[in-house]
Amino acid sequence: MGELKAVAISGHSGRETSESSCSLETASATASVTVSATETAPVPAGRDRPGAAAVRAPRSRRLPLPPGVESFASVDQFVNEARPDRPVHVVRPQVIQAAAQWFIRHFPGAVLYAVKANPTPYVLRHLWASGIRHFDVASLAEVELVAGLLPRARMHFMHPVKSREAIRKSYFQHGVRDFVIDSVPELFKLLEETRSARDLGIVVRLAVGGRHAFHSLAGKFGAPPAQAAGLLVQARKLAPRCCGLSFHVGQQAMDPVAYVQALRLAGEVIAAAKVNPDILDVGGGFPVSFTGLVPPALSSYVDAIAQAAEALKLPKKTKLWCEPGRALVQESGSLVARVELRKENRLYINDGVYGGLFDAGISRLSYPVRLIRPEGPAPSARMARFALLGPTCDSIDALKTPVLLPQDVEEGDWIELGQTGGYSAALQSGFNGFGASSDPVEVAGAPMLSTPGFWQEDDSAPSLVGF
Ligand SMILES: Cc1ncc(COP(=O)(O)O)c(C=O)c1O
Repeated sequence: MGELKAVAISGHSGRETSESSCSLETASATASVTVSATETAPVPAGRDRPGAAAVRAPRSRRLPLPPGVESFASVDQFVNEARPDRPVHVVRPQVIQAAAQWFIRHFPGAVLYAVKANPTPYVLRHLWASGIRHFDVASLAEVELVAGLLPRARMHFMHPVKSREAIRKSYFQHGVRDFVIDSVPELFKLLEETRSARDLGIVVRLAVGGRHAFHSLAGKFGAPPAQAAGLLVQARKLAPRCCGLSFHVGQQAMDPVAYVQALRLAGEVIAAAKVNPDILDVGGGFPVSFTGLVPPALSSYVDAIAQAAEALKLPKKTKLWCEPGRALVQESGSLVARVELRKENRLYINDGVYGGLFDAGISRLSYPVRLIRPEGPAPSARMARFALLGPTCDSIDALKTPVLLPQDVEEGDWIELGQTGGYSAALQSGFNGFGASSDPVEVAGAPMLSTPGFWQEDDSAPSLVGF
């Protein structure tokens, strides 16, 4: 905090004003926007997974298909008809809608979608149509993408290290006003590139532990508490409209206590700074189910956050934000890959770690899998354990955890890998000329797995709101 006294910023009096705060309109305020008849045509019920009774498909309404995107009643129907020779991302729009509406209904504050999880235009448009109005962006490319696609979206630049061009263009060309910082040099950069704008929202990213997360984000960003308190003091002076405090407990946080501990630490920072922030942003990290990894009910996360925030006894003007990525999109997506060769219990498939399956190559996250064989003998009922190997020349292109598939799986069979809606299409590289096409395929039906306490509890038909 001592160091922060050295921050001398000309042109800023530090005067507090009563300008408008940064509270955000919520999606419910826009829910009355009407949609055209084509947008409300019902999707046929999907039956793409025999034996999937445990997961109920939410009812849905649909948007017009963008050029290049085809629609099928099920993954099986798609494979039957298309026999795809490249990997393909399939998306279940009704699952996106249900997840978005679950968050909007249950999170006690504003819901910002973290675009990095899946920036596919199809997905962004469905999130918007489901009521998501706020987008957490991390680069100029994401700002330009969202601005081009959803001109009325509110964007918040939540990356603590930004290029000067990104700050300048986001502020002056795309109307971005809220920026995260976690250091004094970044604060200076922000002020210089916005010509010390008086309408900034400055959010300070606090470093918190990542002990409960599958992918900890603790190593790179976030100011230690004392420094965060000093930055919050500066943010209050320099951003009279809106200052805030944020953190990220790490991706796929498996215990709600992660948020409780982070909120307690945020409370200590707020007390040390003697500044009541306008925004308290609990970040992303909300988990979804994978094979052998079932998180506590999502509602328990939201409840824990609400209680821990309440315990801080902050004034009413302090609003909660969250920035879910994975939890809004993961269940909506699957990847369909083909087996190109079997060597005993090793299956060489046409997508891998450099493609849409990155998460399962760098960690033990394990996607649910199932075999699709449109013709020939029915797959064996006996299951066996198989290693999945990706198509590139690189030995690390292999999934870390073996999967269970019918023991007679063979070259020419297709495999559906579920729970790939987040950090899959976004991460594929095209290395060695492999990878899925950029256009997803739309399918109806339920995801292969669902997260306890998530949309299946609460699956009244999601209502789309207009573009
Ligand atoms: C700043 C920030 N916000 C939100 C997210 C989304 O996190 P998740 O997908 O775990 O919800 C990330 C992911 O890394 C992030 O870095």
